[in-house]
Amino acid sequence: MARTGYTGLSAASYDLWFGGEGFEDVEFYREAIGSGGEPALEAACGTGRLLIPYVRDGLDVEGLDRSREMLEICRRKAESAGLRVTLHQARMESFALDRKFRTIYVPFGSFMLLADATEATAALRCFRAHLADGGRVLIPLHHPWRHDIGVAPAPSGEWRLRRVATRPEDEAIVRCYERTTLDFDRQIQQVRLRFEVSRGGEVVESQEDVQRLRWYEQAEFACLLAAAGFERADALEAYTWEPAAPDSASFIFVAG
Ligand SMILES: C[S@@+](CC[C@H](N)C(=O)[O-])C[C@H]1O[C@@H](n2cnc3c(N)ncnc32)[C@H](O)[C@@H]1O
Repeated sequence: MARTGYTGLSAASYDLWFGGEGFEDVEFYREAIGSGGEPALEAACGTGRLLIPYVRDGLDVEGLDRSREMLEICRRKAESAGLRVTLHQARMESFALDRKFRTIYVPFGSFMLLADATEATAALRCFRAHLADGGRVLIPLHHPWRHDIGVAPAPSGEWRLRRVATRPEDEAIVRCYERTTLDFDRQIQQVRLRFEVSRGGEVVESQEDVQRLRWYEQAEFACLLAAAGFERADALEAYTWEPAAPDSASFIFVAG
């Protein structure tokens, strides 16, 4: 039975590929938070790819994620760096915290994992309820079939090797295969992921996950934000402060 993501091998191998600090979004959110955007909440913070460097830099940032295992990895990394982090295990569509934030951000397109319209609307309402006066949400979105942003899927139904890395603790080879299908009527990308751990050329452990991601047109997402009570919303070109081109494949909504 396929899992729905970010548990088991999926959580344990996340940092093999995404644990570094060299991603193009790091400076964007740092600037947003550092220029009057504290305190901040990272929704779907995972293993702390962004949260930990920001806390290390003295920024007031908390994290929220539904995966206990991803949060546990985040907590361990923070502890070994001598940092205190505030983490909440909760779903972004139904959390209730006793603090309000000037920035709520949802990096790496994680908002798209809320494939169901009621979940997406509930999350936006929840974000709005947790915004301090003058606060804003930052939500990056992309169109998964567009080749120009490097995430175009293989033709429907084909497995392809997406990532491979050597696990430092035991030198095992970890591979991640992906099979993507696109439903253009419902604007849903379904991604099946197969994780395989090999030692001495033999697969010793494997796991299958399935994820559904909902993509949006800019005008459509602006309407969703308005329906959730946001008064202003701008689409920016990722990861800049410039307005998004109307046909942009990767944009960030900033709303308050
Ligand atoms: C691609 S990872 C992103 C992690 C981190 N923000 C980063 O940029 O590296 C997606 C994360 O979303 C979390 N997630 C998925 N659905 C969620 C939900 N409904 N509520 C909260 N977290 C969720 C997963 O557990 C996972 O940690």
